[in-house]
Amino acid sequence: MLKASNLQQIDFNELYKEQQKKSSFAPKLAQHWDKKAPSMSKRVFESVYVKDFISKLNLDGVKTLLDVGCGPGTLGVSLADKLEKVYCLDFSSEMLKFAKKNAQDRGLSNVVTMEKSFYDDWSDVPKCDMLIASRCMMVKDAKETLKLLNSKAKRVYISYKTDGSFIDEEILNLLDEDFEQKPSYMHFVNILYNMGICADVSFIRSENDRFVNLSLEQFIRKIEDDIGELSKGERDRLRNYHENVYTKKEQDGFISWALISYDTTLGKLK
Ligand SMILES: C[S@@+](CC[C@H](N)C(=O)[O-])C[C@H]1O[C@@H](n2cnc3c(N)ncnc32)[C@H](O)[C@@H]1O
Repeated sequence: MLKASNLQQIDFNELYKEQQKKSSFAPKLAQHWDKKAPSMSKRVFESVYVKDFISKLNLDGVKTLLDVGCGPGTLGVSLADKLEKVYCLDFSSEMLKFAKKNAQDRGLSNVVTMEKSFYDDWSDVPKCDMLIASRCMMVKDAKETLKLLNSKAKRVYISYKTDGSFIDEEILNLLDEDFEQKPSYMHFVNILYNMGICADVSFIRSENDRFVNLSLEQFIRKIEDDIGELSKGERDRLRNYHENVYTKKEQDGFISWALISYDTTLGKLK
């Protein structure tokens, strides 16, 4: 009998759930995304991220697409003119309004929106040739969600922030609290490995101007948006950092995303 290696004995989904539970960067509710919808819709379509993401897709034989956590239709609407049918799924009704409008503005009649969460009943979600889950996989149980996604498509593309938080480690170190990280993209790669799926991983280096050229007031507001209200000590340290470090250093404004892709119809490892 061939025994499991020590790597195969690690339950990466348990590690994922543990890290997700203690992470200081909790998943956001639909209302949070509703508020982000107008600004996101305005800026994402022309981004380097979208161009790079699309250039990495294998669209051979693909007629139908399910874009999960679609936002304003970032990828689904951008790809719709190459496909027969695109289903854009999201739990934010505002994001879906923009997805619909973006499809209409481009004269597309093959985009269907579905208001759903990862935790709802997906029995009416159609199976598609391809599924994309871009920048939306902050889920409670990675394995459960991966199983759900895998049941809906032959080819799957998932992007997840390569590592760390959106806020610089240097800045987090100035705050009172100790921060626990989010799970990493490597949790996903290893959970898939546990599930018998060998995924390809590549990286997308995309622009992220959220923290570039901000006034002190904007700088503090951005941090409070993510972390919550700051103490007086934190504000003082951030003021000092903004004046002496932030405004003097070159800000490259880029961020890296891991693109994990695989075919659900290929033979399993085990
Ligand atoms: C950062 S945006 C990404 C949007 C788009 N996929 C992109 O890459 O530009 C995250 C999206 O995931 C959606 N989302 C987050 N959690 C979700 C959940 N539990 N169920 C369904 N959608 C969710 C949000 O509403 C939001 O539109």
